[in-house]
Amino acid sequence: MQVDILTLFPEMFEGVFQSSILKRAQETGAFQYNTVNFRDYTTNRHHKVDDYPYGGGAGMVLSPQPIFDAVEQIKQKHDTNPRIILMCPQGETYTQKKAEQLAQEDHLILICGHYEGYDERIRTHLVTDEISIGDYVLTGGELAAMVVIDSVVRLLPGVLGNQESARSDSFSTGLLEHPHYTRPAEFRGLKVPDVLLSGNHQKIEEWRRKESFKRTLERRPDLLEGLELSEDEKEWLKK
Ligand code: ADE
Repeated sequence: MQVDILTLFPEMFEGVFQSSILKRAQETGAFQYNTVNFRDYTTNRHHKVDDYPYGGGAGMVLSPQPIFDAVEQIKQKHDTNPRIILMCPQGETYTQKKAEQLAQEDHLILICGHYEGYDERIRTHLVTDEISIGDYVLTGGELAAMVVIDSVVRLLPGVLGNQESARSDSFSTGLLEHPHYTRPAEFRGLKVPDVLLSGNHQKIEEWRRKESFKRTLERRPDLLEGLELSEDEKEWLKK
């Protein structure tokens, strides 16, 4: 997967993808990224990327020209038809489902702003998706772009080793993960549930499924809406 990131602060990305799984994903060729400073695409003398809002008011607005030109040049270079994603608090709230969809693509372009707003024509005539990572406002789209890239790249084929991918991720099953324990069986008087030490795999599986369901019900009941529940799960819900 090719990922291009439009940003006025390319240095923010230095280092973040240079460790652990994302580093390995680049070494194996599963993923490569490139930062593009769209200030380099400005055609005005002062390399200004923003301007005052028509109609007046506070704050500046990112101009369409450098962003359109940068995106068009990237598309030409790779000869692809990428998803073009605007990072902004007004976008659709990011979910694991969206990460799974984006992981099917060969090329993504992420646009990060740092100002009051984007010229509306960027939204209406350039981008294919608008993503928010949550209902809070960041100083810019860069951290949000990193979140999206991290969560997408780990889903690419071959990026996670067996050890890592065998885990039933929270959300990918639609439920939160069940509790995990490791040695010792007793720590400061706190015991690991007997069933996990029993060696009975069917019982362990049942316990995990139930705990996963209970945890979701307690912490994120909204996730259960629209899920197809098993007969057991319907019983647990009544209790
Ligand atoms: N830019 C500023 N805040 C953001 C958010 N919550 N999600 C995505 N991009 C942003």
